[in-house]
Amino acid sequence: MIFVKSEKEIGLMREPCAIVRDCLSFVGERIGAGMTTKEVDELVERFIRSCGAQPSCLGYCGYPASACVSVNEVVVHGIPDGRVLKEGDIVSVDLCAYKNGFHGDGARTFRIGKVDEESDKLIRVTEECFFRGIEGLRAGTPLYDIGYRVQQHAEENGFSVIRAYTGHGIGREMHEDPSVPNVGRRGTGVRLPAGAVICVEPMIAAGTFRVKVLPDEWTAVTLDGGRAAHYENTVVVREDGVEILTL
Ligand code: MF3
Ligand code: CO
Repeated sequence: MIFVKSEKEIGLMREPCAIVRDCLSFVGERIGAGMTTKEVDELVERFIRSCGAQPSCLGYCGYPASACVSVNEVVVHGIPDGRVLKEGDIVSVDLCAYKNGFHGDGARTFRIGKVDEESDKLIRVTEECFFRGIEGLRAGTPLYDIGYRVQQHAEENGFSVIRAYTGHGIGREMHEDPSVPNVGRRGTGVRLPAGAVICVEPMIAAGTFRVKVLPDEWTAVTLDGGRAAHYENTVVVREDGVEILTL
């Protein structure tokens, strides 16, 4: 069931979402070669706690960290560890904050120093896929229009869309209905109501969209070892468009 949020509830969601937004910028200003993914996680945890919020990911289904830090061929759910970031890497940082009884969720893919041309394009196109996905989105839009638009843009650019993971509703729980796929058939799916709050999060691969999960039961990597990027925001569906809470 899709929960429709009242203006009061949306008001309460603004704070955790702003913390996610600010934390992602904070990380973006500091991430760089020589840093470990664990150090990135420590930055995230300290930032979120300093805002009086909780890192929602920590302990979620047993997840051991505050952020997912996914390097190169890691698509999502990279567990922070001693891996050292190096020039040319691309790093997706996905994080959630809980405050006022609600969650906010967002992700960005960062470039470590100068990256090769294809990686640079992959990151750019993944961000564009988010904006394509929400283009025209408003109350009454069929859910799978989002995935249709994301897929069109990714494939037009020679990339593929990860299917194994999707966006989702968000609110008092980090994952609520509906599931928001990044592929789909135009004009199909439930019509989104005004007041629905969803995370739109294209995960785009340079090669195959097929993934496997490593024995740690979290880390999802592309089957062919190609790189992947991720870009996510929490958005409110309005009568006349969307409001992005994490930008
Ligand atoms: N932020 C992620 C999402 O978009 C959740 C990561 S799973 C967790 O759904 F275990 F890390 F929380
Ligand atoms: Co999410």
